[in-house]
Amino acid sequence: MKKRVGILISGRGSNMRSLIAAAANPAFPAEIELVISNVGNAQGLAYAASADIPTIVIPHKAYETREDFDRAVDQALANADIDIVCLAGFMRILSDWFARRWEGRLLNIHPSLLPLFKGVHVHEQALHAGVRVSGCTVHFVVPELDAGPIVAQAAVPVEIADTPETLAARILAEEHKLYPAALRLLAEGRVRLENGHAVFTSPS
Ligand code: GRF
Repeated sequence: MKKRVGILISGRGSNMRSLIAAAANPAFPAEIELVISNVGNAQGLAYAASADIPTIVIPHKAYETREDFDRAVDQALANADIDIVCLAGFMRILSDWFARRWEGRLLNIHPSLLPLFKGVHVHEQALHAGVRVSGCTVHFVVPELDAGPIVAQAAVPVEIADTPETLAARILAEEHKLYPAALRLLAEGRVRLENGHAVFTSPS
């Protein structure tokens, strides 16, 4: 049976679009069943709606604590019977409670080769460090920020003339291929989180 996927966004939603596009293939092992945004006017919401995917806005400002907000998100995911959650440009730090509750079923995409350049201003960090290669990472989410076990990575060259914007664009193109590939691995049970490590099994 196909895994039921919920995507959490805060903005543009281009990674969300790539997941929706991949799931449109009948052979893909997961279906996108719900998109949740903490921002009411997130650009991605309109696209999800146009693709006939249910959308919910859960404004974080309406909740007193981080965990109250996370409980509302969790409830919405449970109501839709979601198996796997993909963070895709979701700009809220999730509580330890949420990360533990969804342990092994919660993925994030980050625009660097983790463990390098965590947090924000990622491309500025990369250019400042002078690395000649950067990229993107899909990882399991654990309570510590941008620190979960790695599911998949893609590398791109850093060009001498790069600005944060040109580097971001080169990496984003790779993100759009990497996230569907990583979700496929998890949905097919070819990667799992075990004792804090990503464990891979080859297809039989
Ligand atoms: C991506 O670069 C992603 O890696 C990062 O935030 C950006 C989101 O872009 N977490 P989009 O909303 O998916 O277009």
